[in-house]
Amino acid sequence: MSEQSCAPAERGILIIGLGLIGGSLAAALKEAGFAGRILACDRDADEVTSGIDMGLVDAGSTELAPWVAESSLIVLAVPVLAIEAVLRELAPHLGDQVITDVGSTKGAIEASVERVFGDIPPRFVLGHPIAGSEKSGVAASNPALYRRHKVILTPRADTDPDALARVRVLWAACGAELLEMDVARHDQVLARTSHLPHLLAFSLVDTLARQDERLEIFRYAAGGFRDFTRIAGSDPVMWRDIFSANREAVLGALDEFEAGVARLRRAVTDNDGDAMLAIFDRASHARQYFDTLLNQTSYQAMEQRNIRYRVTPGGNVRGRIRVPGDKSISHRSIMLGALAEGVTEVHGFLEGEDSLATLQAFREMGVAIEGPHQGRVTIHGVGLHGLKAPAGPLYVGNSGTAMRLFAGLLAGQAFDTELTGDVSLNKRPMGRVADPLREMGAVIETAEGGRPPLTIRGGQALRGIRYDMPMASAQVKSCLLLAGLYAEGETRVREPAPTRDHTERMLNGFGYAVQRDADEAWLQGGGRLTASPIDVPSDISSAAFYLVAAAITPGSDLLLEHVGTNPTRIGVINILKAMGADLELLNPREVGGEPVADIRVRHAPLKGIDIPVDQVPLAIDEFPVLFIAAANAEGVTRLRGAEELRVKESDRIQAMADGLAILGVENTVHSDGIDIVGRADASDTHVEHYSGGHVDSLGDHRIAMAFAIAALRAEGEIVIDDCANVATSFPGFVDLARRVGLSLEEQEAS
Ligand code: S3P
Repeated sequence: MSEQSCAPAERGILIIGLGLIGGSLAAALKEAGFAGRILACDRDADEVTSGIDMGLVDAGSTELAPWVAESSLIVLAVPVLAIEAVLRELAPHLGDQVITDVGSTKGAIEASVERVFGDIPPRFVLGHPIAGSEKSGVAASNPALYRRHKVILTPRADTDPDALARVRVLWAACGAELLEMDVARHDQVLARTSHLPHLLAFSLVDTLARQDERLEIFRYAAGGFRDFTRIAGSDPVMWRDIFSANREAVLGALDEFEAGVARLRRAVTDNDGDAMLAIFDRASHARQYFDTLLNQTSYQAMEQRNIRYRVTPGGNVRGRIRVPGDKSISHRSIMLGALAEGVTEVHGFLEGEDSLATLQAFREMGVAIEGPHQGRVTIHGVGLHGLKAPAGPLYVGNSGTAMRLFAGLLAGQAFDTELTGDVSLNKRPMGRVADPLREMGAVIETAEGGRPPLTIRGGQALRGIRYDMPMASAQVKSCLLLAGLYAEGETRVREPAPTRDHTERMLNGFGYAVQRDADEAWLQGGGRLTASPIDVPSDISSAAFYLVAAAITPGSDLLLEHVGTNPTRIGVINILKAMGADLELLNPREVGGEPVADIRVRHAPLKGIDIPVDQVPLAIDEFPVLFIAAANAEGVTRLRGAEELRVKESDRIQAMADGLAILGVENTVHSDGIDIVGRADASDTHVEHYSGGHVDSLGDHRIAMAFAIAALRAEGEIVIDDCANVATSFPGFVDLARRVGLSLEEQEAS
């Protein structure tokens, strides 16, 4: 529905109560080009006169009756406790007008409507714009007050759909974002997010003012006081009304707050630094998360955003860069650090949305975690049995790794948990971990088809099993080893092909013996983890985009520093080398149990190859960009044995095949792979290998980045839709891309 752009088609809109809220509505409607009449009624004749003088209102007075017949929609913008009297005055004059209001408590208003009309008439649509200011009066009207602010509507089952649609159009014309919820939930939510903070601000300022009649103390009050108490300047009458009208919910919120203050007081009294840190860290992180919501960068916001990349063809790739930390190792550093005894210092942590969600989940289970600050995180481990039940479901965003590894370690806890994720994750298979965990004695429920959310019942006695994995999956292996920490006896996992072994390495680094013989890894339950520092290398999966960028582009010479070169991750290097790429591993070293090197890559003509099947699990995340290398090679590249690509963040075989076809790169899709007909000749002399085009990443970070790299050899611009999820694994991708020589613009698409 094109709510956003159209001005309401009402004949006349009557605003009863012309203060800041009513006046700003009038101003926004005028600005949106509303063609009907704006009428106003206010007890204060001066307010109406000001509204007319300011050009916000076409006509009005202190009388209600004359204006009702001229209007098709009425907005009640009077204080909550005045609504009932206004309704009584209004009732005898009403025809078929749609009526809405702006009150901050809905239960009390619904009760007033019921008292006046006997029920809630279907053309009443109660609403609440979450916008305001400590200023009041029509003179403070601001046409932008509602822009990008939320308006909550609380329709009932019998609300007239036409009335609801018209109220939606009213607010959408002011640039507001519309939400719907029921009255009770609205009042609970507002008690916590608005009414309680106002109550505290009023109370703090009053407390200080009482102690100091000459108000001297405020001379010394600095930013903290100002930031915390700004809202204490709001309209006292309005707030008295709100607290009276939403009494129960406000008192409930106040009880919770008092319990929180008592907890903090105890921590201060006992000089319990860890407890204080846990509270402050949780709060500080939650506040930062709130900021990211406001700035539209967090998961929930990401899901509503369409970031579009526009990449101009050409350029070459030069310089020296360091890509962010390894995602797999970052997740594991938080998990094992939290379960260890002692303090774990992490360097090089990936501050991407995926690993941040893991970090937040542990905070919600009572672990004090400092940072991240420029890749540094300090985890105050609670030991294998020290986690606490989280207050609600644990949200792991886009991350399959987080959900599957969490499933293993939560199966062994004493408490129940629920794991949820974003739209993409909610489609991915979890039976692969739930089934073997159930064999170990875990109690796990999934949604239909083994999909998330997962509900994990705590307090189960787990027993070790020997599990033969049907697919080569590091996530399944890691999940079972983590559950094995809590199991009686030995947990053994056999893998059909080698998969990344970061869990085994890190467990050993934390003093927990994991053994390996050929294709099996195993451990004994009942041990303990001892904190150990972790240095996270750069992620080879992120480096891969730039490895391919330089490999396919004449004139390129790029050095990637400090890249993790664990043998279970270097499929991309082996495959590119087999295609003829000029890659050099320099300065190989070991950092905290993981091999690392600097990688120099220069352009060289590539040729198509049959990708060795044993390299598939070792390059599983790098195929999207390897397909771009294949498109820029001479001859056909064939991939088989890669059915796992179909259940990643998207079906990566199909998503890449569709995008490549749009660029004019011929390919044939197979159930477990793809054939790609490379567009280069043997000496790689033609600059342009395929056309530009408009492709869809399907919200998959690696598809988005792969097509950005493809533009280096395209004839025309490549436009890529749905790129917000690049932030899950590679914050800073766009800046680095520009730094090395790509022409990439980022846009917000509607
Ligand atoms: C990962 C394992 C792989 C990989 C994923 C990260 C891990 O998944 O694709 O990005 O950190 O263990 P599978 O285990 O499903 O192959």
